[in-house]
Amino acid sequence: MLRTSLRVTGQAGVIDIRRLDTKKPGSTRICKLMDKSIQATLHQLATTLSVPEARPVFITGAGISLASGIPTFRGSEPGAVWAKNVTELGTRRFFKTNPVAAWKFYLHRFDTVRAAEPNAAHIALAELEVHLPALTLITQNVDGLHIDAGSKNLVEIHGSSRRMRCTRRECVNSAPLGVMKWDDSYFAAFRSAPSMETLPRCPLCRKPMRPHILWFDEYYASHEDYGLKRLHQAWYDWTVLVFVGTSHSVGVTEQALEAAGHDRITAYNIDPNPTQSDDTSSLIQVTANAEVVLPSLLRLVQQLKSTQSRQPRDQNIETN
Ligand SMILES: NC(=O)c1ccc[n+]([C@@H]2O[C@H](COP(=O)([O-])OP(=O)(O)OC[C@H]3O[C@@H](n4cnc5c(N)ncnc54)[C@H](O)[C@@H]3O)[C@@H](O)[C@H]2O)c1
Ligand SMILES: [Zn+2]
Repeated sequence: MLRTSLRVTGQAGVIDIRRLDTKKPGSTRICKLMDKSIQATLHQLATTLSVPEARPVFITGAGISLASGIPTFRGSEPGAVWAKNVTELGTRRFFKTNPVAAWKFYLHRFDTVRAAEPNAAHIALAELEVHLPALTLITQNVDGLHIDAGSKNLVEIHGSSRRMRCTRRECVNSAPLGVMKWDDSYFAAFRSAPSMETLPRCPLCRKPMRPHILWFDEYYASHEDYGLKRLHQAWYDWTVLVFVGTSHSVGVTEQALEAAGHDRITAYNIDPNPTQSDDTSSLIQVTANAEVVLPSLLRLVQQLKSTQSRQPRDQNIETN
């Protein structure tokens, strides 16, 4: 059974371009732009994606949402939250012993996430799906930005900040099937005076509600809505794998790499500062920012697809 085992790896790689982040005056943000070798790699990827039998799987992580203002866990930007001991806070164990502190942490984090908007990378992925209907998008993010961008064939494998559920296993609002749309009115009393008494409660059984997200000490199979079955279906007949903005620290990326190796699937990695480890050594690196790379990739796929759609007509003209 797949578990969110955590393997924190060291960050290596040379940063060659830094520029001022215009959204946050005074702060710096890593920004790797594309050189010629990256463009050649992208062309190769676009060609692989554009063949009619392509069944691509994209797996995104926190890095894709950094340009939307959401801090990553492991990135080097000032707001990266590993520093805040997320491996302790992001556990079922912590929630059980201190639900008030856990909800305070998540409400604060979800408020940031809810204020964010999709960036060029999310939008390009949604548009890619229009040209590549067999594309499956698996995200480790809980921010909902792929949905806002318009992605349809999406697996939110770590759950969503836009849903919540009951903690009582026997309740229909609880795992493995029950889930409720986020409703901020459940948090009005808690926000003004956080305590055990004001915790958000299930409307059916009055037990405390919990975030609908996969914690580090839980299993992917613990809730249907996490989409583990759909993920495995996508891996069944995939033809290419593309990681975007992930540090490969959490179980699903490790499993995907292992499965891709087994199936001899080529795997790409789009990240300006990729994790270097034995496990990721087989990846074809696209060392640049997702919000720069993915719109370029989309343009290449659009060009290739339009050439393909013109070909039969041109052939007819020649034979006439
Ligand atoms: N937006 C979110 O929902 C969010 C935010 C933080 C963490 N998380 C959770 O964090 C866990 C940690 O794993 P992770 O691997 O997703 O994130 P991570 O924080 O461990 O790694 C982020 C990666 O993104 C890269 N990156 C930074 N800027 C980038 C850019 N512009 N384009 C592309 N890549 C960029 C970094 O170099 C790094 O390798 C996941 O379980 C995820 O659910 C989610
Ligand atoms: Zn309940």
